[in-house]
Amino acid sequence: MNKILTLLLIFTISQMSFSQSQENLSKEERLKWFKDAKLGIFIHWGLYAVDGIQESWGLWHQKIGYDEYLKQHQGFTAQNYNPKDWAEIFKKTGARYAVLTTRHHDGFALWGTKLSRLNAVDYSPAKRDLVAPFAQTLRNQGLKVGLYYSLTDWAHPDYKVPFPRPDLKKFYPQKNQNQLDSWQRFVKYYRGQLRELSSEINPDLWWFDGDWERSAEEWRAAGTKDSLLSWNPNVIINSRLQSYGDYATPEQGIPVVRPKGPWEFCMTMNDNWGYFPSDKNYKPIAQIIRTFVEVISKGGNLLLNIGPKADGTIAEPQMQRLNALGDWIRKHHEAVFDTQEGLPYGHFFGPTMVSKDKKSIYLCLFDEPKHYVLLKGLQTKVKEIEVVGSGQQLNFERNGGAAWNNIPGILRIEIPQKQNLDEYVTIIKISLEDELHLYRGHGNAVEMN
Ligand code: GLC
Repeated sequence: MNKILTLLLIFTISQMSFSQSQENLSKEERLKWFKDAKLGIFIHWGLYAVDGIQESWGLWHQKIGYDEYLKQHQGFTAQNYNPKDWAEIFKKTGARYAVLTTRHHDGFALWGTKLSRLNAVDYSPAKRDLVAPFAQTLRNQGLKVGLYYSLTDWAHPDYKVPFPRPDLKKFYPQKNQNQLDSWQRFVKYYRGQLRELSSEINPDLWWFDGDWERSAEEWRAAGTKDSLLSWNPNVIINSRLQSYGDYATPEQGIPVVRPKGPWEFCMTMNDNWGYFPSDKNYKPIAQIIRTFVEVISKGGNLLLNIGPKADGTIAEPQMQRLNALGDWIRKHHEAVFDTQEGLPYGHFFGPTMVSKDKKSIYLCLFDEPKHYVLLKGLQTKVKEIEVVGSGQQLNFERNGGAAWNNIPGILRIEIPQKQNLDEYVTIIKISLEDELHLYRGHGNAVEMN
């Protein structure tokens, strides 16, 4: 009897502390690091890198058959894959996290999953797990670990696809599952893979994809989210678990209007996610840096994609872009990492950031300014203005306004000397005497002078 009571007590206490740990962490708390991260690196790495073809989608669009696609496995060597180098490069670029495609829609997994033979350990000359060393070296550099996982698996025999597919059963050993119907088996399979990754890696972030192919009910999304949180109460989840995610993930087209709540914008450097040597349509460095600035000025993070080669090396045009972005971020560190989203529309013609203590405003100049730089509606007194990175002090004066109605005039700032303009985006820092206070009205008639 005593034994039973003790067991019951232990069980109750463990349940209490479990639910407490879940309750204790609000979404806000879980997202804290993410909101300050600003830059992440997205890594699309898989079989498609071997022939340099489109990741997974060629199958869907019937440009390539599964047999042909899977032949690429012979060339997936990862022989020069050195995750330590990757982590150092990402850190140097200024990223605070990275997200690796552990399994794309094509079904090929980068870790030695026990639930399918279609993986880097069992079905490629790499013959090793590529995910755990990635996570370990990121963590050694103080970066957070994100795992991309496609809910869809177009190779799985229990996952129906609208294109012809050979019999791929041999890749998916399923024992004692006859009592389940095919969808139940698939859900069990995908959750099983999440369980494996969770216990081996314990990621800080799950980046789901492909959710649009089934409903939240079909994915059993609510239960999946509960499991992920019970395995790691700190974990955060992107928006592609139907409505169960924590933050929005627009891709490729930079949002014109800021998405609601926390968000991240993911973008390729050329027109493909994976390594695609014939695609030379790389975005100029200026575009990548401007995009980054725009995103952080709207309170988001940029998840900038690279597509490593099959041997694990990063192609030169991608390295150049990472390096250039890293140089720019280093020079403008305070404007990137000590800030939050900028002023509302109407005050400045361009992106802005505001420091966390609300005592500095950062104005971003994409083009070479003429005559003067203009800021409207600033109530707070200005202490000084300088060009970030060069330290040049800029003169300024107030002009216009209606003091009797508390309407501030414009702030006219001297333009920086040519040699102090940054090649990509120049940042001007306005230090304030006090916390930022803005005028947001539309003016009044003068009733008395
Ligand atoms: C899209 C594509 C997928 C890619 C992802 C990255 O969802 O389907 O191939 O991995 O975007 O955001």
